[in-house]
Amino acid sequence: MTDREFERLVEFLESRYGINLSQKKVIVQGRLDNYLARNGFANYGDYLNAVESDKSGHELQNMLNILTTNHTYFWREPDHFIFLKEVILPQIVEKERHTHDIRIWSGASSSGEEPYTIAMVIKEFLGLNYNNWDTTLLATDLSSEVLQYAIKGVYLKEKIEVLPEPWQKAYFKRVDDFNYRVADDIRKNVMFRKFNLMSDFPFTKKMHVVFLRNVMIYFSEDTKRNLVNKIYDILEPGGYLIIGNTENIDKEASKLEYVRPSIFRKPI
Ligand SMILES: C[S@@+](CC[C@H](N)C(=O)[O-])C[C@H]1O[C@@H](n2cnc3c(N)ncnc32)[C@H](O)[C@@H]1O
Repeated sequence: MTDREFERLVEFLESRYGINLSQKKVIVQGRLDNYLARNGFANYGDYLNAVESDKSGHELQNMLNILTTNHTYFWREPDHFIFLKEVILPQIVEKERHTHDIRIWSGASSSGEEPYTIAMVIKEFLGLNYNNWDTTLLATDLSSEVLQYAIKGVYLKEKIEVLPEPWQKAYFKRVDDFNYRVADDIRKNVMFRKFNLMSDFPFTKKMHVVFLRNVMIYFSEDTKRNLVNKIYDILEPGGYLIIGNTENIDKEASKLEYVRPSIFRKPI
């Protein structure tokens, strides 16, 4: 890949998806070389032309599937789930005691471990009242491949072993010796959709909590600032934004209140 071709790819991805791979040429080329060879592209120029002109979106989707970093796991950064259970959910339940509606969005849900963990935390918290509440979570991602995986909800045994043992028993069904499937009542509570965070947000109702963890690391400061402002607009007063523990947002540029590292709140 020539420097010019790499720049073209970087510009394309950043302008459409916010993803900045300018420092990652070796990784990008390592991942794409194989794909080009298998799919009969003579060079990167031809490949990029195909991505940009393919009206079906198929080439583009394949590229996103290859280049996005989807690493995730159940119970990742547990302090967030504990804060959700101990602080946020009691506030929502008090506020929504007449509507019984909890609205949470996992905005870069990857293969589903994050939204399913949230769904389990909600079920644990509500206990016997669970069926009296509308707890459907929205979970979105850019990559169709991870979304398909998430919708299936089948995970290797060792991936679920990080969860408390009673949860493994209550919220998973054994498929075979190696695989477990998320139980139906948890799966039906998570609505997976493809969505680019750079798009306008189409939500009709405001969110109580937005999880946007370990995705903004790929975005430029400007992109992050715009995104955080859009999230501010779709949060309920008193609603929370939760980002990854190693991420940060520009506190000066946002109207969100700092609660603790990686947790922010829209003023009531
Ligand atoms: C590392 S995973 C994070 C998964 C989970 N939130 C966690 O913390 O474990 C990052 C995800 O962000 C998605 N992503 C990257 N850019 C995006 C964009 N512009 N819109 C939506 N999703 C995006 C990727 O496809 C990937 O699945």
